Amino acid sequence: MTAVLAENTAELDAAGSTQREKTARRLLASSARYSYNPDLDIDWTSGPVEGMWHMQPERMTLYGTPLWDALTEEQRIELSKHEVISVARVGLWFEVLLMGMLAAHAYNQDPASAHAQYALTEIGDETRHSVMFARWADMYGGNHYKPHPVVHHLGKVFRLVAPTGPSMWAGTLVAEELLDRLQREGMNDERMQPMSRMVAKIHVVEEARHVRFAREELERAMAQSHWGPSRYFHRVFAAVAAAVIARSLVSPHVYASVGLDEKTARKAALANPNYQDTTRWMGEKILPFLEEVGMVNRTARAIYKFVHLV
Ligand SMILES: [Fe+2]
Ligand SMILES: [Fe+2]
Repeated sequence: MTAVLAENTAELDAAGSTQREKTARRLLASSARYSYNPDLDIDWTSGPVEGMWHMQPERMTLYGTPLWDALTEEQRIELSKHEVISVARVGLWFEVLLMGMLAAHAYNQDPASAHAQYALTEIGDETRHSVMFARWADMYGGNHYKPHPVVHHLGKVFRLVAPTGPSMWAGTLVAEELLDRLQREGMNDERMQPMSRMVAKIHVVEEARHVRFAREELERAMAQSHWGPSRYFHRVFAAVAAAVIARSLVSPHVYASVGLDEKTARKAALANPNYQDTTRWMGEKILPFLEEVGMVNRTARAIYKFVHLV
């Protein structure tokens, strides 16, 4: 019986690693064909086009509130610039964390494998994205829209602890899929600034590969994780990371750009049913997947609910 079980597990492992290599080879081929160089592919000399949005107004934090109604159209557009820059700047923060975790992951792999080579290639994508986001934020004076200092330090804990289990891939997927939802819609929105649309397009194309990679890794990590306390820890840890990411995307400092009191506006944003719907919409693709692979227990669900990701 034990021998049969061992044989089955070995077969499963072999099948898993063949699939892992197959996926990585496909992703490497796609990276070679469809990658951007934001230094060259974005016209950094062009300024903003007057009257165009920097992000979709309906997805902004104050949309539909009395505070929103009191803003002029010009102020709303100005705020859209600061909100999208904040999202990009927080995305950058997560990407830098992710690069550290991917490097730690690659350290344990055979560098001759397509899997390790793809992990390294993804680091390459993320370095270009982070420089692109930093440059974009700098252009509009928004590099100070970083996560709260406590979150910054918590990120270091996440980088150290998460790579030991499924929460690294789950946290990564939440960060990537929330942004993907927003950017996929934004890149096709003709009311938006050409630069916003191009940044979104570059990110959407390259992130689609990262999402595929992380989804399969999460499935594998969960299939290999059998110890109850560890599964519990990673489920809750991933939910906390997701909540922190969702709550950090738009910095309260953005509201000062249109003369609003940061505390009052933040409070209105968190209580805004429209923004709660937007948050659920951003989580609509990833949360059912987390559920499907067994990453959501009662505690995790309560955390996702608390921040309106479900
Ligand atoms: Fe990225
Ligand atoms: Fe990514």
